[in-house]
Amino acid sequence: MGQGLLTPVLALRDGALACEGVALDTLAEAVGTPSYVYSSAAIRDQFRQLDKALSGIPHRIHYSLKANANWAILRLVRSLGAGAEVVSGGELYRALQGGFAPEDVVFGGVGKSARELGEAVEAGIRLVNVESEAELRLLDGIACERKRRIPVGLRLNPEITVDSPHAYIQTGGKGHKFGIPYDDGLSAARLAASLPWLELAGLDMHVGSQLAVLDAYERGLERILSLLEAVRAEGIDSIRYLDIGGGLAVPYEDERPPDLRAYGRIVRDVARRSGLEILVEPGRFLVADAGTLLTRVLYRKRSGGREIAVTDAGMTELLRPSHYQAYHHIEPVRPRQRVTVRIDVVGPVCESGDFLALDREMPDIEAGDLLAIRTAGAYGYSMASNYNARPRSPEILVDGDRYAVTTDREEYQDLIRLERHTLDWKNP
Ligand code: LLP
Repeated sequence: MGQGLLTPVLALRDGALACEGVALDTLAEAVGTPSYVYSSAAIRDQFRQLDKALSGIPHRIHYSLKANANWAILRLVRSLGAGAEVVSGGELYRALQGGFAPEDVVFGGVGKSARELGEAVEAGIRLVNVESEAELRLLDGIACERKRRIPVGLRLNPEITVDSPHAYIQTGGKGHKFGIPYDDGLSAARLAASLPWLELAGLDMHVGSQLAVLDAYERGLERILSLLEAVRAEGIDSIRYLDIGGGLAVPYEDERPPDLRAYGRIVRDVARRSGLEILVEPGRFLVADAGTLLTRVLYRKRSGGREIAVTDAGMTELLRPSHYQAYHHIEPVRPRQRVTVRIDVVGPVCESGDFLALDREMPDIEAGDLLAIRTAGAYGYSMASNYNARPRSPEILVDGDRYAVTTDREEYQDLIRLERHTLDWKNP
């Protein structure tokens, strides 16, 4: 196990895993553990592959910041030609700080506040994807106050069931909180077209993440295309964009990588039939594989017949195993002859649900071993928390033979930075 999974992101060099030209054990000595390490080359590669799959199609790739909003990664994907997709005022702020021009930003999300919508209008972004009639009216009012017309897309829920590994990452099924229910799409389009400060500029869908097969995705797009036809039949012809969301899968275990040619064919077909510019919003696909979480084994124990390794990273650093029962490949940074064991790799957090792997068959590990947790670049650091008052890890970007710390390890003082130690009591 393990060897077959080696990708160019990590490779053995002088007996230890290295990220590009940087040995992970040397890096761990320098920056400590746990820490996140990202490969620039892997991000560039993924971006180019996707861009190539979409070549010849009028398209824009809007990187979904929720996967990983690290400043250096934002600069990198922007330098490759990506725009940004954001789902909160905080992500909009990060995108603008990361150097994205407002016209390269698309804003989605099911619960945007009036403040966040105001920020989007103020910045003058490319598109706000709206998820209800109430949000359309609110946004129109906000745009009117600021006397700035704003392009909107309608996020539709095509009400299809997709094949993805966990129910929590499906978003386009009947009754899901996301989007405008399909049957209400036409009336939402009429409303958007009639509100004076909105310009109905796009239709949008995002049906889920880590989409294993594209059939359902394709069915969702068919439904959006029929709605587009119905909207046009009403004489509404302002739509310029078809935003087809994110969701491209990456292999975590031994799954096949997504068929980018098939994806390209599907997108080419909808682009041709709609005559619209295609927006895509990949998150995981661009950054998951690039990221490795480095952790050290603190203790090795046996309990009730189970082998257990306690590491210095856990659900506070990487929530995915605990939250979605997600698989992340784990291997020693310095492989040697080891017996194979079935082992629980667990974190230090005071929760039984704090684990990185359960009953995993892998080479035995000892206290002191450094481990690489793979495919952790997406939804790793971005979902990290301070639970148990654990300072968040540093993030490191590798480029060739060099590395740079892009986020420092939090200090204990950071944990209480916003707390007031003198209480300013008021009578309301
Ligand atoms: N666009 C929208 C509107 C989204 O909601 C998402 C992800 C994306 C794009 C990007 O999806 P991606 O290409 O990364 O699959 N925390 C979960 C994933 C939640 C995804 C939420 N929305 C995980 O760790 O698997």
